[in-house]
Order: sequence, then C-alpha cells, then structure tokens
Amino acid sequence: MDLSVDYVGLKLKNPLIAAAGPLTRNGAMMKKALDAGFAAVVTETIVTEVRRNVRPRLVNGAAGMGNIGLYSDFTLEEWESEIAQVKEAGGIVIANILAHTPSEMSYIARVVEKYGADAIELGVAAPHGEGLEVLSSDPDRMYGLAAATVDAVELPVIVKMSPNVTNLSKLALAVERSGASAISAIDTVRSIIGVDLETGRALLPTYGGYSGAAVRPIGLAAVATIAQTVDIQVSGIGGVENYHDALEYIMLGASTVQLLTAIVLHGYSVVPSILEGMKRWMARQGHESLSGIRGKALASLYSFEELRMEPYTARVTAHCAAQHCDACVTGCMYEAVVKDEGIYSVDKARCAGCGLCVSLCPEKCFMLEWGP
Ligand SMILES: Cc1cc2nc3c(=O)[nH]c(=O)nc-3n(C[C@H](O)[C@H](O)[C@H](O)COP(=O)(O)O)c2cc1C
Repeated sequence: MDLSVDYVGLKLKNPLIAAAGPLTRNGAMMKKALDAGFAAVVTETIVTEVRRNVRPRLVNGAAGMGNIGLYSDFTLEEWESEIAQVKEAGGIVIANILAHTPSEMSYIARVVEKYGADAIELGVAAPHGEGLEVLSSDPDRMYGLAAATVDAVELPVIVKMSPNVTNLSKLALAVERSGASAISAIDTVRSIIGVDLETGRALLPTYGGYSGAAVRPIGLAAVATIAQTVDIQVSGIGGVENYHDALEYIMLGASTVQLLTAIVLHGYSVVPSILEGMKRWMARQGHESLSGIRGKALASLYSFEELRMEPYTARVTAHCAAQHCDACVTGCMYEAVVKDEGIYSVDKARCAGCGLCVSLCPEKCFMLEWGP
C-alpha cells in the first residue's frame, strides 16, 4: 500500500504534515513530530520582529480550541539552528513565514532558504493581530506577497488561506497567478471561545482563532472551493482527528493533510493511527495509492441552483434497539417520525424528505427512499 505523495516537488512518505504552531516551535519539537510519523513539518510562523506571546492565550472549549497566540518567539537568526536540526536528521521542513510587505516577505524567504528549508508557506491568515485578516482577504495584496516571494527564492511557495473571507475563489486565483505552487487551508476561524458568566468576562481578552474538530466542515468547504477553482496543489487543514477525516480532505482534492489540535488533545499516537486506518481502508476498497481517490468527491458537488426537488421520503428499515434515544422523534421538525409502543414509523404524508433522521439515528434504522 503506497501512501507516498509528491507535494510541491517534495517526495513525502505519507500525506500527513505537522501544521504550524507551538508543536513545531523548535528543532527538537519538529523532530518529535517527524518521529511520530509525520512526513514533514511546518514551522511555527517566523517573523523578523518578535513580540512575546500574551498569557494566557489558549482555552479548550466544548467542541474546539480557542487561541490568541501569534507567532514564534525565536528571532529569524535563531531559526537557523532549529531548521538545521531537522535537516541533519533527514527531515522535511516547510518554513512558515509572515511579513506585511512584499520586500520583507522576500527577505525572510531568502534567509530561510539559506537555512535549508525545503519549502515556504506564507502564514498570513491568523484571524487575530496586526490586521492580518485584512491582508489575507485582499487578493491584490496576497498576489503581491506571493509573487514577490516566488521571485525571491528557488523553493516552492505555498500560501496559507484564511477561512474568514467571502472571496476564497478570487484569492485562490490571485495566488495561482502569482506562481505559487500550492495553497494550504485553513488557518483558524475567527471566534470568541466563550464567556465566564460569574465574572462577566470573555474567556480570552481578544478575538481569537478556533481550531479542532468543530472547524472541519469549514476546512472541507474551503479545500473543495480551492480545488474547484485552481490547478495548483492543496493542503487540507482543520479538525483532522482520524483517517476518515483525512480521507475526506483528500477526496475533496487535497494532496496533503495538516494537523495540530488533534495532537494537542489526543497525543502523537493519532499519527500512526491515521496512517494505519488509511492503509486498512484503502486495502478494503482496493486502492493502491491515494491518487486514485484524490478529488473523487468533487464530482458529487453541484451549485445549489442545479439541484432539483426529488421525491424522497424516509422509511424505518429496522427495529430500533436504542429505545432510550428518541433522537429521530425529537429531531423531526415535520413531526413525521412517531413512536408507538416501542415501534418507530414515518408518517409519509408529513415527511418532507429532509433526511435528518438518517444521520440522527445511532442504530442506522432510517433510509430515504424514492417516492412519496
Ligand atoms: C495554538 C495554535 C497556534 C497556531 N500557530 C500558528 C502559526 O504560528 N502559524 C500558522 O500559520 N498557523 C498557526 N495555527 C493554525 C494551525 O496551523 C491550523 O491551521 C489550525 O489550527 C487548524 O488545524 P487544526 O484544527 O488541526 O488545529 C495555530 C493554531 C493553534 C491552535
């Protein structure tokens, strides 16, 4: 079973990459990620003017994590030895860099190229701090930053995208036009993680970035949009916790998949578990390599205007063993699912074919069938 991928000209042994953040903040941590099975690492964001990160800056919420950390505490010069450690160990390192002007971005890119980075990712998409959101939603500025970086170095350039934009296709086209080799998406989602009701204070003192399982549908939509818009490669990021999540990104067009929050919350064992799960799934389905499934699900996506009203209604297919649950009855907004002496049924006259019961039922007792 071959999980290897060619990503921006880099030969990766598998599609998993450690995403930019505190887990890749130095050489030792990057080596730890590689030892866990990641095929490559993306450094925490490297800048020229370091500002210490605020404290506190992380909160784990009910469905995802909120953070207001910005970038690396190391100076640009300090990154030389950190990157060297990874290179000496034979690892592949993508330097995530941030600047606000094309000339400064080119400068950092040239320096990290000299330090031995294998590729560059522009980390301009955090939803907090220094007007990054404004920058990352402006196609002209993104083009300027990316084109200058592409011109400055021999290395492949990847641009990381923000989900906090309404013009993702325009941005992707601008990045492709710049000569960049790939787009990675998504960075974190602009958020307020919560409010402490006792103190009346927000849990973090500024708007932050949301990550983890809850943001996966947002990441999937971004990756699909980018893959449908441009011909350059895509790296899927956001909420990947298991092989199923990773394969969803690949089926929507991603060549590689990046993770961070799942490792923080569940540990590095997530990496071998995803790789094993992928191999087992591919063996069961008869796929020799990931190229056979990459982008496969894109053909199942239509514009909303193309969709027709189909005469589907729900049907109960099996006796439900989870009698205590009643999620189907509670969740049916059309009051079509009824329970009578432990037996569930669908009132076809009321059923609007919405399909919610199919995904609500833990016992998989519902299906949609053609016809009223
Ligand atoms: C604590 C934390 C720090 C992060 N730092 C960076 C960073 O330095 N540069 C960057 O481009 N993205 C950064 N990110 C964003 C992640 O790389 C990733 O895009 C995002 O968390 C979604 O993936 P996940 O759900 O697997 O965490 C950070 C995310 C978190 C949670």
